[in-house]
Amino acid sequence: MAANFSLRINGQSRTIEAEPDSTLLMVLREQLDLTGTKYGCGEGQCGACTVLIDGRAQRSCLTRISSLAGKSITTIEGLAAKETLHPVQQAFLDEGAMQCAYCTSGMIMSAVSLLNSRPHPSDREILQAMQGNVCRCGTYPRIVAAIRRATATPEPVRL
Ligand code: FES
Ligand code: FES
Repeated sequence: MAANFSLRINGQSRTIEAEPDSTLLMVLREQLDLTGTKYGCGEGQCGACTVLIDGRAQRSCLTRISSLAGKSITTIEGLAAKETLHPVQQAFLDEGAMQCAYCTSGMIMSAVSLLNSRPHPSDREILQAMQGNVCRCGTYPRIVAAIRRATATPEPVRL
């Protein structure tokens, strides 16, 4: 049975009506028009739907809306500070780390999560953190270069 849920998304409180087992991905895309978060596999295997929940990367296709009380959700639309891109977003642009860009928002959210916990990761740590995000266009070398570039930014990366 549908119920009301209060969510904190991108710094704003939102109330939505949904079935308790609705996924966060479907609510973001179909009710809140936050379509930067992509539907890829729907099974937790591709990373296209990655968002931050309390600052950590989570698969929104596996996250039930009923599990989010009191948690803070950040989507790709909430990363930039007004007109200034988040340093990871800027680094992806600077490195041209995308082709079709279907994977890009999920890649960026996973990278932000990594840098929230490890501001200066090794290449090995970058590869480990990103291994759940699939890029069918094969832009992995530029994605890793973008994350390296973001670690060199003088601006704080933490969200
Ligand atoms: S759509 Fe969520 S991991 Fe693929
Ligand atoms: S840029 Fe096309 S899937 Fe990654």
